[in-house]
Amino acid sequence: MSIGAARAAPRHGAGPLSARTSAAPLDHHKKATPVVGFQKEHYGVGVGFPVILSVGPTFDAWAGAITNMGTLVLAVASIAGMTLLLPVHIAGQQPTGTELDSKVKAFLEQRKGTWHDLNVPESDGQLLHDLIVKHKFTRALEIGTSTGHSGIWIAWALAKTGGRLTTVELDPGRHRTALANFKEAGVASYIDARLGDAHDIVPALPGPFDFVFSDADKEWYTQYAQAVWPKVARGGCFTAHNVAGRVSRGIAEFLAYMKALPDATTTVDTSSSAGVSISCKR
Ligand SMILES: C[S@@+](CC[C@H](N)C(=O)[O-])C[C@H]1O[C@@H](n2cnc3c(N)ncnc32)[C@H](O)[C@@H]1O
Repeated sequence: MSIGAARAAPRHGAGPLSARTSAAPLDHHKKATPVVGFQKEHYGVGVGFPVILSVGPTFDAWAGAITNMGTLVLAVASIAGMTLLLPVHIAGQQPTGTELDSKVKAFLEQRKGTWHDLNVPESDGQLLHDLIVKHKFTRALEIGTSTGHSGIWIAWALAKTGGRLTTVELDPGRHRTALANFKEAGVASYIDARLGDAHDIVPALPGPFDFVFSDADKEWYTQYAQAVWPKVARGGCFTAHNVAGRVSRGIAEFLAYMKALPDATTTVDTSSSAGVSISCKR
């Protein structure tokens, strides 16, 4: 297919989809609004101080807190004509540091050999993780979430660098499974997982990015690169999966495109049979 060809091409790896779901970004960008008087527990159950309720703004603040801090139960009580909010914290924040390391390691160990949804092999997950940590990348994009194996490796690295991943998946079932996996692995708070067609979502993302992993429909790799490369920061890298061995026309065209970019240095890591191209911006 030539660069910029029409959108009739099938999505490899997209699986049989009966219905397309349009872009539905999950709002992971909400920042928790600090709430005075709340006793934050790391894990377990905690009861906060009563907060006098000023209904509208206070509710918004708590909605943010719920999104970012786990499960909260709000008890509303009325005392002497004043309405009070009693926040009850029944689940903790996402773990960090060594606690997170143990949780991710345990999850990956338990799931070893069970990644059957076109997921990357462990060695490629490790490769992506190490690249991010080595270069201290923080603004990451993944095209093709599937059930989240590579996303977990990427987000684990970003937890160490203070970064965040946006990942895009077309298949609603895989997207749902990925969300559950991200949560179970302990990395959900580092990920903005979007359901929808990357052909539409990716060009609309503002960037900038310093790490991109392309692993969705191979015949669209060049178009993804064309859309994203201008938004890759200097020193940042655009990586792509399945570029080794006998490659499809789409991949061959993509590699030629990346190698011809005047401001990119492209190498191919073949430590796994799939092969990962790494194009870094000079
Ligand atoms: C090779 S798998 C990704 C594996 C994933 N990176 C991992 O290692 O866990 C490719 C995924 O891209 C998705 N996909 C294909 N075309 C897409 C598109 N146009 N937009 C979004 N996702 C797409 C497929 O549904 C599939 O789940």
